[in-house]
Amino acid sequence: MYYALPKEYREAETDELRERIRIAKEKLGNKAIILTHHYQRMEVVEFGDAVGDSYGLSKIAASSDHVEYIFFCGVHFMAESADILSSDNQLVFMPNPLAGCPMADMAEISDVLEAWEYLEKIGGDKKIMPVSYMNSAAELKAFTGEHGGLICTSSNADAAYKWGFARREKLFFFPDRHLGYNTGIKYGFKPADMVLWDFSRENGGLTVEQVEQAKVILWKGHCHVHTNFKAEHIKETREKYPEAKIVVHPECPAEVVENADATGSTSFIVKYVDQQPSGSTIAVGTEINLIHRLAHQYPDKKIFVLSGRICPVCANMYRTTLNDLAYCLENFKDIKPIRVDEDIKQNARLALERMLEVH
Ligand code: 13P
Ligand code: SF4
Repeated sequence: MYYALPKEYREAETDELRERIRIAKEKLGNKAIILTHHYQRMEVVEFGDAVGDSYGLSKIAASSDHVEYIFFCGVHFMAESADILSSDNQLVFMPNPLAGCPMADMAEISDVLEAWEYLEKIGGDKKIMPVSYMNSAAELKAFTGEHGGLICTSSNADAAYKWGFARREKLFFFPDRHLGYNTGIKYGFKPADMVLWDFSRENGGLTVEQVEQAKVILWKGHCHVHTNFKAEHIKETREKYPEAKIVVHPECPAEVVENADATGSTSFIVKYVDQQPSGSTIAVGTEINLIHRLAHQYPDKKIFVLSGRICPVCANMYRTTLNDLAYCLENFKDIKPIRVDEDIKQNARLALERMLEVH
């Protein structure tokens, strides 16, 4: 996809952009809503009618029947989900349509179908419940819905596991191996109960016995932002700040999650930080924009990134700027909305609606 902002918007000063956004918002009144994910730039979040995690923002999108336009400042799978959950007469726009999620791209539908075909061949498909993380393309959501499964986010993954195991013997979890694994451990499984489906290898690199014995099959996807965090960062933080609380996102590897004080979605992290008493020291293992915003919002607490050696920025979340927002709000009538094909929408909605019911 080619996308370039007109010069007028690229070169506008921040104060001018703010004023133009304010006026455009005022003009749209209650016809529009701006949704911003927790990882968005602080100046973008300021203009959001809501800020939240992917679960929370989906809920808002699903229940905002009163608006005609949803402006989604986040990444592509979030805007797609908003389009699936909103009604047909509502339009969803992404101020920067190039913002994708590399983890979502790790589960291509052709690879998923190939894996499922193999499972059908060995007679396992009836026993297996597909559970897909919200960070996935609409096609994978539709596949999940069609095969009886549901979507989960990091805030309802535990409940999604319970839901899945109440109905089938095993889960096939797409595409984040870490969220899938961390949730499996919380559910009570041993590492040996979970196997990794390597989509670059024939039959996922697994034998029939391995598939049969597994309780959870994990797709080999990951978030390159959260996998930067390591157990040694926790050790160093504990040594340097013995009083610190450490809170991380469940997309981090198990070695990090197991040694942290708390783990949860971005909204969980926000709440956790809020609940720590004034004067607390809190190291956070997630995307840097959220950490900066928290540090700014709670000047009475010492809040910093879990490791000073890395900068966990999600370049895709960072793409959306005030320039994009101003352009999108002023010109949305000439911009292509985010639209999921009707044939995909129906099953994808089924899987997303199950997600909204399971919490
Ligand atoms: P949340 O659902 O916790 O907001 O996470 C979304 C995400 O992309 C984390 O990397
Ligand atoms: Fe995707 Fe990771 Fe960015 Fe979240 S932080 S949107 S999982 S790349």
